[in-house]
Amino acid sequence: MILPIVAYGDPVLKKRADDITPQDPSIVQLISDMYETMYQANGIGLAAPQIGKSIRLFITDASLLDDESVKDFKKVFINPTIEEEFGEEWSYEEGCLSIPGIRGEVSRYSKLRIRYFDERWNEHVEEYDGMPARIIQHEYDHIEGKLFIEYFSPLKKQLLKNKLANISKGIVDVSYKMKFPVKKK
Ligand code: NI
Repeated sequence: MILPIVAYGDPVLKKRADDITPQDPSIVQLISDMYETMYQANGIGLAAPQIGKSIRLFITDASLLDDESVKDFKKVFINPTIEEEFGEEWSYEEGCLSIPGIRGEVSRYSKLRIRYFDERWNEHVEEYDGMPARIIQHEYDHIEGKLFIEYFSPLKKQLLKNKLANISKGIVDVSYKMKFPVKKK
């Protein structure tokens, strides 16, 4: 089932999400719905708060990117903790399904170590670098209640103010189903 993607301005995107009870059977269907939702929106990552659930879960599938290093990067991360970020910082232009039409450079560490459970509740500790690490960092920020635009300079934020207000009201050109927090006047 395709779920509406929550737009910028919804408080669920600003909340630190809660851990999922181990073995919770309802997440099997949720994960399947999140993949369906992400694919129809041409996303490469989707976090549960973006479909209105404040729980610590995100999914990835970066096969859409024309990049050998991520073509097999299809993973489910449940109750993750980034234990360490390290390496060089590098900048890349990011976007977000909750903030359509806005893109911008974000500087992040190139490497990280993450502890998480997969969809069968097996625990993993893994290291990632480059694009997979970046996708994890962006999605992990979502479950910490942080959005990529918060990394922008104060000037860039100021310039985007009206555009962001319009996104919250649904005044935005978008091809997938969204849920907007502010009523159009
Ligand atoms: Ni995002």
